[in-house]
Amino acid sequence: MAATDLERFSNEEKRNLSLGGHVGFDSLPDQLVSKSVAQGFSFNILCVGETGIGKSTLMNTLFNTTFETEEASHYEKAVRLRPRTYDLQESNVHLKLTIVDAVGFGDQINKDERPIVDYIDTQFENYLQEELKIRRSLFNYHDSRIHVCLYFITPTGHSLKSLDLVTMKKLDCKVNIIPIIAKADTISKSELHKFKIKIMSELVSNGVQIYQFPTDDEAVAEINSVMNAHLPFAVVGSTEEVKVGNKMVRARQYPWGVVQVENESHCDFVKLREMLIRVNMEDLREQTHTRHYELYRRCKLEEMGFKDTDPDSQPFSLQETYETKRKEFLCELQRKEEEMRQMFVNKVKETESELKEKERELHEKFEHLKRIHQEEKKKVEEKRRELEEEMNAFNRRKVAVETLQSQSLLATSQQPLKKDKDKKN
Ligand code: GTP
Ligand code: MG
Repeated sequence: MAATDLERFSNEEKRNLSLGGHVGFDSLPDQLVSKSVAQGFSFNILCVGETGIGKSTLMNTLFNTTFETEEASHYEKAVRLRPRTYDLQESNVHLKLTIVDAVGFGDQINKDERPIVDYIDTQFENYLQEELKIRRSLFNYHDSRIHVCLYFITPTGHSLKSLDLVTMKKLDCKVNIIPIIAKADTISKSELHKFKIKIMSELVSNGVQIYQFPTDDEAVAEINSVMNAHLPFAVVGSTEEVKVGNKMVRARQYPWGVVQVENESHCDFVKLREMLIRVNMEDLREQTHTRHYELYRRCKLEEMGFKDTDPDSQPFSLQETYETKRKEFLCELQRKEEEMRQMFVNKVKETESELKEKERELHEKFEHLKRIHQEEKKKVEEKRRELEEEMNAFNRRKVAVETLQSQSLLATSQQPLKKDKDKKN
């Protein structure tokens, strides 16, 4: 290839070629569909709303089934997240549905949103850990990341509670929030209209970002933009069937009439179901991955010290970050080692000098005792000598006395002899 051709080739980003015949890559979307269908889908819904607001009933109504549920107590010690996973099938499509209940939420004022935030983060963390593994199995990994949070608003007709605002504010960067007014049959039509406006204005003024149905795909742009204007959806849930005309419909029956769940002039249940399941389920899954998980991943990796560019804004690869971190770690390790060694040497020196001091003290003590002992010994010697002298003197006196005694005895025995001699003479 000539140099000019090469230049031209590299300057062109892409070229359009017309095919001479059928190649077959137009079947790629079909391949993708059949692969996805075979693999199945997962969808995870988080229900946040006060105890008894109608969460379980709405889930049963939405999926037209009866999920196992147990009533939550009003005396839970803290908010507890209870996930339950079900395998559902519609036509040949398998859906692994997880419904997570925030049990005990909103019951007492000391119950906050932290366990909910922690739960969402834990699911992101699990996914991140799987992604970072050397042997990843993302293909058959059970993705437990929350795709949507249905936030159940109490139908007070008044305004949002501060707990609602605080919770939604904390959750909005972590999950797609769809706010819904629960038990909408308990609020009048005109009140509901005002309530919806009030809720939306409160969300906007508090900077709470709720999920917006996407309008970039022209196939659903129109319906989604109409539905965005209907938020928050006012829903009624019921699994009871009531005869209306000659048809059995799901409804709630009251002494004054029947509220039909799937009647759009009665409530927004159908709108919610359409938006959540039929039109935007994939977008919710995608937003979770590309927006919320991406944000979590970025923050987490940055926290760990990974970055895309160096201080001069030059690309910085993961390998380079790893090497830098490794070097930093080794330097730190060396520094710590040196510090420990120095500490050890100091300690040894300290102990050595302490021992020497102790030895000197002992030596002094020994010398002192030795001196005392010698003095004592000297005194005893002195005493002994004195006693010996005394004993000698005593013995001498004793001998003298004995000598004297024997002489006097001799003298007294010779006296009668002399007298006798004298008499004879
Ligand atoms: P916990 O899981 O115990 O927190 O309750 P929950 O939020 O799951 O509420 P659940 O679905 O158990 O419903 C509680 C009560 O509210 C039941 O008596 C339901 O029949 C009733 N209920 C549910 N949905 C609606 C509704 O749309 N309107 C009215 N009026 N009542 C409803
Ligand atoms: Mg329930």
